[in-house]
Amino acid sequence: MAQPTLSLDARYYTDPQVFEIETKGLLARSWQFGCHSSELEKPGDYATFEIAGESLFAIRGRDEKIRAFYNVCQHRAHQLVNGKGSTRVVVCPYHAWTYELSGELRAGPNIKAVEGFDKSSICLTDVKVEEFLGFVFVNLDPDAAPMEEWFPGARHQLEEWVPHWDQLRPLEWVEIPEKCNWKVSVENYSECYHCSLNHPTFSNGVIKPETYDIQPQGMCLRHTTQCQSLDRMTYDIQSGFAHHLEYSSWFLWPMFSFQVYPGNVLNTYHWRAIDANHVVVWRGWYSVEGLDDPKIRALAIQDRATTVEEDIHLVESVQRGLGSRGYRPGPLVIDPCGGVNSEHPVMHLQRWMREAVDGI
Ligand code: FES
Ligand SMILES: [Fe+2]
Repeated sequence: MAQPTLSLDARYYTDPQVFEIETKGLLARSWQFGCHSSELEKPGDYATFEIAGESLFAIRGRDEKIRAFYNVCQHRAHQLVNGKGSTRVVVCPYHAWTYELSGELRAGPNIKAVEGFDKSSICLTDVKVEEFLGFVFVNLDPDAAPMEEWFPGARHQLEEWVPHWDQLRPLEWVEIPEKCNWKVSVENYSECYHCSLNHPTFSNGVIKPETYDIQPQGMCLRHTTQCQSLDRMTYDIQSGFAHHLEYSSWFLWPMFSFQVYPGNVLNTYHWRAIDANHVVVWRGWYSVEGLDDPKIRALAIQDRATTVEEDIHLVESVQRGLGSRGYRPGPLVIDPCGGVNSEHPVMHLQRWMREAVDGI
C-alpha cells in the first residue's frame, strides 16, 4: 500500500549547518530580488542589498542598462557603496580608486607610477541581472538559466493580470521579522489548508476558498482562486482590467512572491533569511507612480492586521515545535484532486528544499 509523504525532518529547519549549506548553495544559485527599478531611475542611481551573505549593488549605467556587482573594491577589498544614492562614478572610500558605472577601473591615485599596471584588466565583479516587471532580480551563479526557464509563463501571465505594471512604484515596504526558519515561513505561505481556521478576513472577505488551488509551474508555485462574492468583499475591486474578479499569486522559488489581489492590486512578499531561526518578510504594496492611494493603503493595513499578524503566530509556534524532542514529522495531507485543503504544494517545496541541501 502506498505510504503517505512525511513532512521534512526538523533538522532542516533548525540546524545551523543546513542553513550554511543553503546560503552557499541554493541562495547563491537562485534568482533573488534585489531592488525595484524605480530606485534606479537615472544613470548613476544605485541601491545596495545583501544576498547569500554577500553585499551587492545594482546601478544604472549611462547606456540606461541596470548592472549588478559585488560591493567590493578590486584594490584591497574595501566596500564601495552604502544604502542608496546617485553617483557620477563609483569611488572607493579607502584610496579613491574610481570605477565607471559599467564596472571598469577608470583611475586611481598614482597608479601610473606602477610599471606594468594594466588598468583595462581591472573591473568590478558583476552578477547576473534580470528585470522582471520592474523588479530587479540577481543570480550569483554566472551560469544560471534565465527566469523564463525557471518560472515558465509567469512573466506573461503577470503582464495580463497587472497590465499597468510599468506605471507602478512601491507605495510601502513593511519589514516583518519572524522568529522561524525561512522555510517554515515559505511553506506557510504556500498552503491554504490553514486559511479557513486562521484567516477569517482573507477567507470570507477577499477570496473564495472553495476555488483555491496551487499548482507548480516550473519552479513557480501558482495560486489561483476567484474573489469572494461581491457583497462580502472588504473593498471595491472594479478596475477596468480583465481578471479583476480573481486572486492569483506566483511564488518564485525560493524567496519571492508576486500576488495580485482582486481588482488587479499588485503586492509582493520577499523573504530575507537571517539565520536558521530567523527570517525577515518584506511585504510590498504598489500604486500608480507610488502616489498615495487610499484603497491600497487600506488594503495593506487590513492585510497587516489580519493575514500577516495571524501568520506570525503560526510560524513562530511551528519553529518552537520543530525544536521539541517530542516532534515526529507527520504525514502531509495530499489530496489527489488538489484544492484548498491539500498540502501538495508543501510536498513540492520540501522536495526542492531537500534537493538544495542533500543534492538529491
Ligand atoms: S581598497 Fe578601494 S581603493 Fe583601496
Ligand atoms: Fe497564512
